[in-house]
Amino acid sequence: MQIFSGNVALREYLKSIMTPESTIGFVPTMGALHQGHLALMQKSLQENQFTVVSIFVNPTQFNNPEDLAKYPRTLDQDVEKMTALSPEIIVFAPTVADIYEGNTQSQSFDFDGLENQMEGQFRPGHFNGVGTIVKRLFEIVTPTNAYFGEKDFQQLQIVKKLVEKNKLPVTIVGCPIFREANQLAMSSRNERLSPTERQEAAVIYTILKTAKEKFKTQSTTVVGEWVKKAFLKQPLFTLEYFVIANEATLLPCARKNKTKNYRAFIAVFINNIRLIDTISLH
Ligand code: PAF
Repeated sequence: MQIFSGNVALREYLKSIMTPESTIGFVPTMGALHQGHLALMQKSLQENQFTVVSIFVNPTQFNNPEDLAKYPRTLDQDVEKMTALSPEIIVFAPTVADIYEGNTQSQSFDFDGLENQMEGQFRPGHFNGVGTIVKRLFEIVTPTNAYFGEKDFQQLQIVKKLVEKNKLPVTIVGCPIFREANQLAMSSRNERLSPTERQEAAVIYTILKTAKEKFKTQSTTVVGEWVKKAFLKQPLFTLEYFVIANEATLLPCARKNKTKNYRAFIAVFINNIRLIDTISLH
């Protein structure tokens, strides 16, 4: 398995193996790889001649220093998992200095308002950090296709907007959420949960599925109130937000319109660990 930390070394290697017909699939990650990441890699391996995976815990997208400090960093195990999947994966694991060259700051982006909802409200600056790193990684890796999970649905829409607005020559491929046996959405943060918390966290998706059922016949407000009450009965959890939004604009749904597709988004804390999930309502 080829592993690079420097941008120049990675660029030179890619240049040496590529022909004009070659395609590069790219899976950007922050490491602590789980089955969901591996499924993105599998898809990229199937659809491209080369697959590059980046492992980089991007400081500029963390608004909470404790969250950044505690984010799991497990490069050796990650490399083992990727080798088992395919030794042909090309790994890019840069340092903060490699990426930011002494200026660890985000660029400021206008994503046509997609950045102001949900995660944008509760994690100020988060999407400027995501936009900065994704754009930088695209410049270095020059992918043909890039793969993102739908668990971070808002991020996926924002990355599509980044590509559209900056006319970047890459196709963004959204991939379905992978869930643990108890239906908890897979996330690197799940590693920080105790076994009991991890088991109990199944309630997040159970509540989302019930909310989906209720949305068929009830208003957004009634469904939202029901979700709030449901979490009050869960002492381990604190609900940060539950929002039903238009999938394309991410604007909250005030009144249902049959011609629009809606999606529910949720963020909850369990013992200071923040988990998000989402479900399509159509
Ligand atoms: O989804 C993630 O893991 C990160 O936000 C990403 C896309 C790798 C950028 O740091």
